[in-house]
Amino acid sequence: MRAITIREPGDPEVLDWTEVPDPRPAPGEVLIRVAASAVNRADVLQRQGLYPPPPGASEILGLECSGTIVELGADVTGWQVGDEVCALLAGGGYAELVAVPAAQLLPVPDGVGLVASAALPEVACTVWATVVMNAGLRAGEVLLVHGGAGGIGTHAIQVGKALGATVAVTAGSAERLEQCRRLGADILVNYREQDFVAELRERTGGADVVLDNMGASYVDRNLDALATGGRVVIIGFQGGLVGELNIGKLMGKRASIASTALRPQPVSDKGRIVAAVRENLWPLVERGLVRPIIGQTVPLRDAAEAHRLVERGGAFGKVVLTA
Ligand SMILES: NC(=O)c1ccc[n+]([C@@H]2O[C@H](COP(=O)([O-])OP(=O)(O)OC[C@H]3O[C@@H](n4cnc5c(N)ncnc54)[C@H](OP(=O)(O)O)[C@@H]3O)[C@@H](O)[C@H]2O)c1
Repeated sequence: MRAITIREPGDPEVLDWTEVPDPRPAPGEVLIRVAASAVNRADVLQRQGLYPPPPGASEILGLECSGTIVELGADVTGWQVGDEVCALLAGGGYAELVAVPAAQLLPVPDGVGLVASAALPEVACTVWATVVMNAGLRAGEVLLVHGGAGGIGTHAIQVGKALGATVAVTAGSAERLEQCRRLGADILVNYREQDFVAELRERTGGADVVLDNMGASYVDRNLDALATGGRVVIIGFQGGLVGELNIGKLMGKRASIASTALRPQPVSDKGRIVAAVRENLWPLVERGLVRPIIGQTVPLRDAAEAHRLVERGGAFGKVVLTA
């Protein structure tokens, strides 16, 4: 098969479209002929040599895909050759074929095309695992989504609204905030010009749940923006890894800070998240309340161009790669 490989760690130019051996499905896995994949920030870090794949995972980039099942490994039940699926991957999505544990498969939701469904698994599993399974967002609560215009952010806005929350977002320009508003965001904060703590406190009395992509640089301000009993879930460290936590503020608000990383989790844990997404989130997608937000579609062989786009922050939502 052909796949995108990394010649050496570096800029997008190190990505090559080359011949590599076909993957084989192990017991419990299926082989998918890839229709589309999508770019995640982790792919950029992996390309730069800063985020090696977890042990046993494919060296090829790509944390999600959609496509058609072409072979079943031993002991796979519930799926057939010819089924159209999308899948959460530990790697290997930037290729014509990928082997994936059956526990990480999702059916293509009704009303979403095969290619567009490639934009869903990573954001759906991340947002559901954090905002719902971990932080327990409830109707009537306030959800603050940092980076509302990104892949994760555009999905989190829709999930928050579908669950009956008030959604506040941060983004880096008026244009991106307007796009977030059209997706349903209620409170818009330009992180370059405004103080999200003041905005949240004045307009809501504080956030009940914060989905944070920044890490260290926002740890203190996120606590300030919280309501009593608030929950922060950190999923990224775009603002650094080491910050200072004021325990007095944390205890005073009876608040909690959690964090997670999806990719290194064992198949059994990912399978639990995928099952919850299929049961609870897929019906929201099929009712049109949550849809894939795709800023740009690029041929897989031009993955370097797609990485430049993501690094420039040019797309609203996800960048999809078509095989
Ligand atoms: N832990 C996990 O399992 C997991 C899974 C998936 C993703 N992630 C992480 O989640 C984050 C978002 O992923 P993504 O795929 O959505 O990436 P993305 O599409 O590239 O979005 C990145 C976002 O960061 C925003 N941003 C930049 N500086 C900011 C600031 N000072 N304050 C608030 N927002 C700021 C950008 O906003 P503007 O474009 O408006 O400037 C953009 O919306 C990444 O850090 C990624 O590594 C973690």
